[in-house]
Amino acid sequence: MAQADCPHCNGTGWRLVPADDGSATRAAVRCECSAPDRSARLLDRARIPKRYEHCDLSNFDVDIYSSESGGAAWDRSLEQARLVVQGFVRNFPQVEEQGLLLMGPCGVGKTHLAVAALKELVLRGHEGLFYDYRELLKEIQSSYNPVNQTTEMDVLEPVLKAELLLLDDLGASKPSAWALETVGHILNSRYNEKRITLITTNYLDGESAQHARSVLPSGEAVVNTEDSLADRVGQRIRSRLYEMCRTVEVFARDYRKVIRQAGRLRS
Ligand SMILES: Nc1ncnc2c1ncn2[C@@H]1O[C@H](COP(=O)(O)OP(=O)(O)OP(=O)(O)O)[C@@H](O)[C@H]1O
Ligand SMILES: [Mg+2]
Ligand SMILES: [Zn+2]
Repeated sequence: MAQADCPHCNGTGWRLVPADDGSATRAAVRCECSAPDRSARLLDRARIPKRYEHCDLSNFDVDIYSSESGGAAWDRSLEQARLVVQGFVRNFPQVEEQGLLLMGPCGVGKTHLAVAALKELVLRGHEGLFYDYRELLKEIQSSYNPVNQTTEMDVLEPVLKAELLLLDDLGASKPSAWALETVGHILNSRYNEKRITLITTNYLDGESAQHARSVLPSGEAVVNTEDSLADRVGQRIRSRLYEMCRTVEVFARDYRKVIRQAGRLRS
């Protein structure tokens, strides 16, 4: 909301400026005094979970592991991922119709990076929406009504229409064939409408899973490597994602575990 005592807009949130065409008419523009609220509202509408509200590109650490054996490569992977996300944010919406597919094991910061991008773009005035994949499937499934399809559209519409959608944890559950069909429809429609989608997943492609195993400490890389992303979402969706998104693989240790261990060492 505007500030009640604002000298520029008298609390209306709008002020008059000369029109672009140089004529005597004046145009109403939003007063700066309402900007912080507007940002908060936009962020609210993006439905970013509390747990990830703190995520920024500036607080994404890329200098963590250099003292560990093999750690320099993990730091490089984090740095590379951050660079790609930074580039994406900088160029948006000129991103050649491509979103990002952040792939990697648990806790390497995929959601952190994706939320950081979403937040920055929302604060720039773009319309963004965060959706956890399992949550989306649940909503799709529970709203399914063979007689009355309107509720289903209530769920689908925001996901189809959001300028920027962050679909977090793709593949985290294995839905029924028709629910997967719906996910395919969502991704496909967004692609056709040139809407950008950011995706995170900890399912890798076959070769990447092997690579992950070879560069990460044993016990850390093996999460979810029995199934590939294609096993989880089907070959058609996997294949579509190659076109829709630039793939960013992140191979590092689980940051949650590292922080916990560090905390224990300090205390
Ligand atoms: N490099 C980093 N610098 C700062 N914080 C980080 C970094 N990596 C992860 N985090 C923090 O660690 C927590 C876990 O990261 P995040 O949820 O992004 O991991 P993830 O790769 O999405 O994991 P999952 O596959 O389990 O979803 C978050 O609170 C995040 O902010
Ligand atoms: Mg995540
Ligand atoms: Zn004002």
